[in-house]
Parts: sequence; C-alpha cells; structure tokens
Amino acid sequence: MSEEEELFTITAKHLDSGMRGIPVGTCQTSYVDPLEGVHYVGYPVGDLADMEEEDVVFLLLNKHLPTAEESIAFRKELTHRAEEMPNGALRVLESLTPGSGHPMDWLSIGIMALGAAETTGDVRIDSINLIARMPELMARIFLLRGGRKEKLRPRKPELGLVENFVHMLGIDDEEAEKMTRVVKFFFILHMDHGGGNLSTFSGKAVASGRASVYASLASAMNALSGPLHGRANQSCLEFVQRIGTSDHDEIEKFVRSELGARRPIYGFGHGVLRAEDPRARLLIELGEKVCPDDPNFKIAKALREVVPNILKEIPKISNPYPNVDLASGSLLHSVGFRKPDYYTTFFGWARVAGICAQIMDERNSRDGRGVPIYRPKYLAKNQPKKRT
Ligand code: MLT
Repeated sequence: MSEEEELFTITAKHLDSGMRGIPVGTCQTSYVDPLEGVHYVGYPVGDLADMEEEDVVFLLLNKHLPTAEESIAFRKELTHRAEEMPNGALRVLESLTPGSGHPMDWLSIGIMALGAAETTGDVRIDSINLIARMPELMARIFLLRGGRKEKLRPRKPELGLVENFVHMLGIDDEEAEKMTRVVKFFFILHMDHGGGNLSTFSGKAVASGRASVYASLASAMNALSGPLHGRANQSCLEFVQRIGTSDHDEIEKFVRSELGARRPIYGFGHGVLRAEDPRARLLIELGEKVCPDDPNFKIAKALREVVPNILKEIPKISNPYPNVDLASGSLLHSVGFRKPDYYTTFFGWARVAGICAQIMDERNSRDGRGVPIYRPKYLAKNQPKKRT
C-alpha cells in the first residue's frame, strides 16, 4: 500500500482509537509536523514567537502577516471592540463565588455570558469581538475568582492584548515587564496546533451545527479543561513541585517510582509529535533568560535531560520527548502566577484565536456553503436482536 493509500484507508485498528491519525479535513491556519512541530500558515512557530501577538492573530485569521498599515488597523479594530464590556456578562462573573469551581469553568461561563449579551451571528465579527474581549475576561476571572476584585484596574485596550491583561491585574511596572514578556511568548506558542487537537476539533464540531462562535468556543474550552489536554500544564507544574529537587539521581528515582505506580509523567509525549516539541525548547530558552535560577525551572530543565532516556526503555511509548507543558508552568510561576490551576486559562485564551480562525475557514469553505454538520459513523457493537 502506498503512503497515500495508507493515509486514506480506514481499518478496524482505527476504531475506538480516538480517531487518531484519521484525515477528516483540511486546515489553513496551522500544520503540525511530527518532527518539526507546529507551523502557523507555513511559518515555524519559533519564527513568530518574538512578534507582537496581534500580528500573529492577524496571520491566523488572514493567512498572511500584516503589512505595517494592516497591523495598525487591526490593533485599532481590536482596541475599538474592547472599549466596552457588556454589563450583563460582568454581572454573571460577579455572581460566582470566589474560589469556586475551576478557573476553566469560569472561562467557559464567561464566554457563554458574553455570547448571551452580544452574539451577532456574523462569525467574523463575533470572533474579533471575542478575541478583543479575552484580556479583560481573563483579568476579571483572575481577580474575581481570587477574591481580589479591588485590584482590578480600568481597561486600557490600546496597550495591546497581553499588556492590557497585565495592566488590569494591577501589577507594578517592573514585575509587569517580565510578566508581559513571558505571557506574550506563551500566548503565541499556544495559539493553534492543527485542526485535530481535542479543543479545536470540539469547537469546530459544535460550530458545524451552526452554533454561535461563543457556544463553540465555550465548548472548546470545556474540552481543553481535561487533564489529558490543556490541564496538563497545571498538572505538570504540580508534578515539578512534588519532585522538589533538580538532582538528576533523585529525579530518576522519582520518575521510576511514578512509572512503577502507573502514574503519568507530565510534560512528555504527544499525540502527533515524535520528537521534542520545539515549543518546549523555546520555553526552556526563554527561561534561561528570564528565570535561570528559579527552582521549578531548574527541575523542568533537569527533567528534560533525565526523563527521555528512561521513557525510551518502555517500548510502547512512541514519543519520550518533552512537550509544551514541561516548562510553561515554571515560567508562569516565576513571573508571579503562583496558582497552577489558572495555567490552562492562558492556554485557552491563546487558543481562542486559532479556533476562531479555523471556524471562520470552515464556514467559508465549499464556496461559502461551509463544512456540513459533523456526522462521523459509529459501527454497531451488537447485532440487531430478533424479538422473541
Ligand atoms: C498541543 O498544543 O500540543 C495540543 O493542543 C495537543 C494536540 O495537538 O493534540
């Protein structure tokens, strides 16, 4: 069988496999090469990581990097759309009890509340409105859920997406600079990862039934909240903190005992990648610049050196290499985000851009008729029974 025939042939081994590797569509925003990682519209993500985040969002939406004029106009549009927040949506968030639920619950509720207040039904307008409102939604979730409402500063969307978020949190100047740098980098690296990752796929599946952008994105965030998907970045920092030492021998002992107890080793492996995730390397390189002596970062770095060789001993592990979660939490922690349960909200915030862009592409496909409602086939496990 040729490689192409193999790609398009579905056999019994594909059933009940989480649709692993089964081609279901095309994706214009990004492509994940198993060895070289994610590319946004053809650019390796590392080439985009130091750009302004709005330019990368523009790239995903428009499939080309903006000219200087386009960049200014896009920022103006985002600023304009973030100038007000629907009061009803804010009241919904304020009605939640501080500390209750998981921050991802708040994110999903917040997106639905925005949708209830302002869905237009135009996929582009709803997408840009949501992208523009995310920094404030994030800041409000952090401070309301944390019971620190009084710290919230009035929005300044003209600062840009990430800077506005950091500003609204009430962070002081010196701390804000480092925080902005790390969050921007994290934000760009997490914006998109092909079409088949669970949150994107779920968002697009819901959107295919012509649900609103807000309903689709809230569904995507719920999908992202699972520990096998976006919440792995929270689990990874908790794992790093449990290890508590960057001594290689101690780490090896710890990892072997976790494996012996059949517990997961966070920060390693991936559904598609078969080499170290370039995003893991990029985050480690950033950590070397912003927090080289941070104890969690040192543990993440040591894990990168020790764990692959241990995992390689286990034949069924197809990818023993670091993934994006390995150091992301250590970096966020080092710049002041001390609570790992918030980390997945950063992932979700970033992915809003990629998922909105993919939903727009699916709605515009087939000469504007859009992708039909998703309807894969499940085979009956039980044969029809005859009534006696
Ligand atoms: C990722 O960013 O690595 C993902 O969303 C997981 C995936 O691609 O399945």
